Amino acid sequence: MSKTVGSRAIDALAAPVTRSPFRRVASWLYRKISRQRAGITHLWFPPEQARAITAPSPVADLFYGHSGRPINKWTHYLDLYERYFSRFRNTPVRMLEIGVFEGGSLELWRNYFGPKALIYGIDIDPACASKVSEPNQVRIGSQTDPAFLASVVEEMGGVDLILDDGSHKGSHIITSFRTLFPLLSDGGLYAIEDMHDDYSEWPGTRRNQSLSFVKRLIDDMHGTFTGLPAQESTAVGGLHMFDSIVFIEKKIDQRTANTIVPHSVAI
Ligand SMILES: C[S@@+](CC[C@H](N)C(=O)[O-])C[C@H]1O[C@@H](n2cnc3c(N)ncnc32)[C@H](O)[C@@H]1O
Repeated sequence: MSKTVGSRAIDALAAPVTRSPFRRVASWLYRKISRQRAGITHLWFPPEQARAITAPSPVADLFYGHSGRPINKWTHYLDLYERYFSRFRNTPVRMLEIGVFEGGSLELWRNYFGPKALIYGIDIDPACASKVSEPNQVRIGSQTDPAFLASVVEEMGGVDLILDDGSHKGSHIITSFRTLFPLLSDGGLYAIEDMHDDYSEWPGTRRNQSLSFVKRLIDDMHGTFTGLPAQESTAVGGLHMFDSIVFIEKKIDQRTANTIVPHSVAI
């Protein structure tokens, strides 16, 4: 741990925010009364208006042209999916989405990735079992159940792409990641949606869990330089945080090296 003042200040910023239940309820009430509580109702647009403010992409075309089961996505994710998911298109990618809802997103992924893809969804709601059509698959269980998650990945024969669009609760996100990231193939991708829920003011929710978790992953990624033991994983190769969504890449090669070319100078 660095002893510098600047570093301590950053550590303090990254530490979980803990407030007494009284302060949390008071804060929530204050925001409710003053109508400043962050909400999403005013951010909902009919699809034709949403499309006008969405960056064009093949995923966006499929999303807005979708006529099957309902899909619920934040519009700025569409362009990001294109950036991060396009390398899996028309490959035998093994994808797992946490959170099926009405089943429409699995249909979107089928249309996007193509017939070679293996696409599974999991959901805690048994009603989702009838909302997915073959060749897509759904399994019913909780993202907080490591044995269930591992059994689904075993059935899939491995997994290359994971999208967590489940409960959005910090502790759930963390349990799923701790179980599934080690099972993800090298070079695979793990995305977590709706991280803005980490700022929830609702009584009974806990703030700054999943974003603190992301900070720990960043620390672990630099473990070669800090010498500190990994808190979560030594296998994170890259981590890309956007508004509400994070894309985490699993390393292909675990080694870190530095060099100078041509081979004429030695440090
Ligand atoms: C935001 S919706 C999923 C939306 C869907 N992916 C889409 O794009 O249309 C969240 C889903 O997560 C499910 N869910 C909530 N808690 C869960 C848990 N602990 N384990 C698995 N699924 C859960 C809910 O039943 C719900 O269907």
